[in-house]
Amino acid sequence: MNQHPNTHRHASPKSSRREFAKFLGCAVLAGTSVAAARPLLSVAHTKVMAPQPVADANEIPVGGYKLFRYPTKDDPCILVRLEADRFAAYSQSCTHLMCPIHFQPEKRQFYCPCHEGFFNAEDGSVLAGPPRRPLPRYTAELREGQIWVGQEQRGNNV
Ligand code: FES
Repeated sequence: MNQHPNTHRHASPKSSRREFAKFLGCAVLAGTSVAAARPLLSVAHTKVMAPQPVADANEIPVGGYKLFRYPTKDDPCILVRLEADRFAAYSQSCTHLMCPIHFQPEKRQFYCPCHEGFFNAEDGSVLAGPPRRPLPRYTAELREGQIWVGQEQRGNNV
């Protein structure tokens, strides 16, 4: 009885070895990638952000703001002066879909024009709209006339 070549139920030993070698190669590659990425992931997870001066206190009036980048040049942030001696720093990226937020000093809030999101300028908490998470907030400290921004504050946001 002749069987069509495509009706073989079992792969040839050569083909099985090839499949196994392919599988082994993928497994080694995946293991190597995970091992290589682990230090990067743990660094990102425990990233220590060195404080940086981002503005002279005199350049921002009460109710004013200044845009800056922190902790890298790819991270837009906003520094607001809430009172003469009180500053607050936040990520400028809306926690909904990352649009830039705008400060509305008269209402002490941030506004995201993309989908009508609102955040409290006092603590970064969500006031209205689609965002579910507060704005990431950074420490903002007055030191010898300059505002130093530092480590992200955790647990202070609502
Ligand atoms: S991106 Fe801000 S509300 Fe959607």
